[in-house]
Amino acid sequence: MDIRRARTAAELTAAEALFDGPARQDWSERFLAAPGHLMLIAYVDGVPAGMVSGVEMAHPDKGTEMCLYELSVDEGYRRRGIGRALTLALAEEAQARGCYGMWVGVDTDNEAALATYTAAGARDEGVFTMRGWPFNP
Ligand SMILES: CC(C)(COP(=O)(O)OP(=O)(O)OC[C@H]1O[C@@H](n2cnc3c(N)ncnc32)[C@H](O)[C@@H]1OP(=O)(O)O)[C@@H](O)C(=O)NCCC(=O)NCCS
Repeated sequence: MDIRRARTAAELTAAEALFDGPARQDWSERFLAAPGHLMLIAYVDGVPAGMVSGVEMAHPDKGTEMCLYELSVDEGYRRRGIGRALTLALAEEAQARGCYGMWVGVDTDNEAALATYTAAGARDEGVFTMRGWPFNP
């Protein structure tokens, strides 16, 4: 397995089966150009098998932390350590960038994700609820 940072929209499109929906060219370009945004893709025999995305968040009194935005491993490649390896790779990148920590929000019944983050060294920092404001065009 080879983990590489995505640098082009073509790489994101090639990995779009790992996303919830198709990659859009304009959104891909915005993602790649946005400071503090990154995606690492795991390749097995040249095939995109998993991905993790991260977004740096900065605040005046806290410094910068990494939010693990999305983690996904193709069903045919699960339970081989790819999810853990991607999580560790993002954590390593976050430390290299000077982040003081990394966090992820997880559905409380997502056993695979919880096991993966635990295997990658995450500790339980408590339960929180989420509120949203969907803006419909
Ligand atoms: C979560 C996900 C990324 C895990 O990927 P993966 O490559 O299968 O995970 P790994 O093989 O690296 O497993 C890491 C650890 O979690 C455990 N684990 C993985 N899937 C599990 C499951 N379904 N049930 C219980 N434990 C599981 C593994 O046994 C391993 O533990 P170990 O290191 O102690 O042996 C994958 O299941 C997935 O893409 N799920 C759908 C998307 C999702 O839920 N993303 C997370 C959103 S927060």
